[in-house]
Amino acid sequence: MEDRYKSFMAIVIIGLFSSCASAPDVDGLNEKIETLQQQVADSYKPGFGEFMASVHVHHEKLWFAGTNANWPLADFEIHEIEEILDDLKQLHPERKETELLGMLDPVLDSVETAIEKQDTAMFRANYMLLTNTCNSCHVATEHGFVVIKTPDTPPFSGQVFLP
Ligand code: HEC
Repeated sequence: MEDRYKSFMAIVIIGLFSSCASAPDVDGLNEKIETLQQQVADSYKPGFGEFMASVHVHHEKLWFAGTNANWPLADFEIHEIEEILDDLKQLHPERKETELLGMLDPVLDSVETAIEKQDTAMFRANYMLLTNTCNSCHVATEHGFVVIKTPDTPPFSGQVFLP
């Protein structure tokens, strides 16, 4: 009985020591958190305007894909626009303009329907609506001087838009 008691105490004492040894180094952890926070703050985050510039490239490519009845490419381009808008929402939740981005959803859906139906006339009509919505938001956000239109030439000469 006494031996059992001794070994029990020994375990308790060892336990206490080891828990002291592994007690978290709070200062060290705080320092690490601060360093990580600084790294996140310093890491590169594209600005609202940079996201818009990428949207613009895909908006133009979308036109040449759709009007050439290159439906797989048109489908790809519209999803690129949607992905960029998702990233924009995630990385710029602080911008009041972000709240307005939802106005693009119904028109993007309409363009997507035209792509699914492989309907060029419907595509053209809905693309106009999409472009008008881009401009409506620019007006609403005091960027009415950024006027988007249907492109005349592809944004890059080095890509084939024919199916
Ligand atoms: C939620 C509102 C909103 C919508 C919708 C929107 N934009 Fe913008 N756009 C802005 C704002 C705000 C800016 C200015 C960004 C800044 O502060 O740098 C901008 C800037 C731009 C610019 C940059 C202009 C330049 O010369 O650098 C382009 C290009 C652009 N938008 C294209 C588009 C296209 C194409 C669409 C539609 C597919 C679109 N935008 C839809 C709000 C919007």
